[in-house]
Amino acid sequence: MSSVNNNNNNNNNNNNVGMGEEAEAEYSRQGRVALVAIVAVASLALASLLLACSYYCYLRNKLSKLLRPNFPNNTTTTTTRNDCEDRDGLHNLLQVASDKGGVQVFTFKQLHSATGGFSKSNVVGHGGFGLVYRGVLSDGRKVAIKFMDQAGRQGEEEFRVEVDLLSRLHSPYLLALLGYCSDDHHKLLVYEFMANGGLQEHLYHRGSNGMPLVLDWETRLRIALEAAKGLEYLHEHVTPPVIHRDFKSSNILLDKHLRAKISDFGLAKLGPEKAGGHVSTRVLGTQGYVAPEYALTGHLTTKSDVYSYGVVLLELLTGRVPIDMKRPPGEGILVTWALPRLTDREKVLEIMDPRMDGQYSMKEVIQVAAIAAMCVQPEADYRPLMADVVQSLIPLVKTQRSISKGGSCSSFHAFRSPIPQPQLSGGAQQQAPEN
Ligand SMILES: Nc1ncnc2c1ncn2[C@@H]1O[C@H](COP(=O)(O)OP(=O)(O)OP(=O)(O)O)[C@@H](O)[C@H]1O
Ligand SMILES: [Mg+2]
Repeated sequence: MSSVNNNNNNNNNNNNVGMGEEAEAEYSRQGRVALVAIVAVASLALASLLLACSYYCYLRNKLSKLLRPNFPNNTTTTTTRNDCEDRDGLHNLLQVASDKGGVQVFTFKQLHSATGGFSKSNVVGHGGFGLVYRGVLSDGRKVAIKFMDQAGRQGEEEFRVEVDLLSRLHSPYLLALLGYCSDDHHKLLVYEFMANGGLQEHLYHRGSNGMPLVLDWETRLRIALEAAKGLEYLHEHVTPPVIHRDFKSSNILLDKHLRAKISDFGLAKLGPEKAGGHVSTRVLGTQGYVAPEYALTGHLTTKSDVYSYGVVLLELLTGRVPIDMKRPPGEGILVTWALPRLTDREKVLEIMDPRMDGQYSMKEVIQVAAIAAMCVQPEADYRPLMADVVQSLIPLVKTQRSISKGGSCSSFHAFRSPIPQPQLSGGAQQQAPEN
């Protein structure tokens, strides 16, 4: 029995072994199936996630493109800004370069004929970008045409940024870009014509765009206010803010009524969306106008523009260039020379432009000097917002206008200076502006 039992046991054992192997095989097969299933489900989930992500990016891109033409004053652009973009630059703006919001594309031939074959007699200025010509389009519009002579990456980049930004930004205080020409050999920008050229031409009597004017106090205040409104628009009415980065008196252009508009956006940068933030970038701009912290660290904020604006206010007050090392020691750098005098009632009159011949209100001079002092202070955080500057200037300009209506003030318009018509740097004589 015992052997039978043993046999049975053996058989049982054998059976048990056989069943154990089968179970194990079955178990591991099920394990493999489960693993495959898990991998498949995970891959499917990952693929759907990727698909959803790309669709999300695509939708945001599309939405962003749709909203870009309304870029100014459009608060929704903050939330629709493409997360995949290069946050340090204008990459996203440049991606939508095909949508030029009313900006016309010209052929070289059209601009050639508008300027009389780029005749020297039509040259109205020469800047870092190249020569600037006066022109008349076939529809009769008077324009200024900038002809890029600076080949290379920087010039091309400035051209692209100028076109992309100006086709989206619209304000009465910004120069309007009417169109451009871009082929393999030429890059040209077409702007509305500003009959009185750059502000600096009238402040320093080095005009190249018609007869220089001596700007009276009221006109200077109005120009200060209009330029401030232009910067306020860039910093506070556009999302993300735009930092001009090359704000200076030669980039404030004056029309036939001496209304001021800000020009030259080639160096502009999109600012940080976060309040108090900065963008890190290489230092570009014009000597004498660059904020000290930006020059030292490359950290760019809207307050860098506020500093440059303060320098322009000093130019308006003093009629001096920001840097002139030919002046006596201590007077070469405008900010260093003027700053201690700006807040001293006794000394503030020392800095005033003698060409205004004392035709200003002392009270207003003190107020404008105080604004300038705040704008150029070395600590960026203590500089005002452009909206604050605008609010401080508005009453001054209004006061002037109400006096003007009452007729109790003799001079409210810029008057022609007796200075002879200047020679162009390129040698061409300027024609008096027609409008
Ligand atoms: N839209 C315009 N209408 C009339 N004149 C203009 C216009 N744009 C420029 N100019 C004239 O051309 C001059 C040169 O302008 P441009 O912007 O090329 O150089 P800039 O401002 O002197 O220097 P930068 O290249 O550093 O900006 C101006 O001072 C002005 O007289
Ligand atoms: Mg300029």
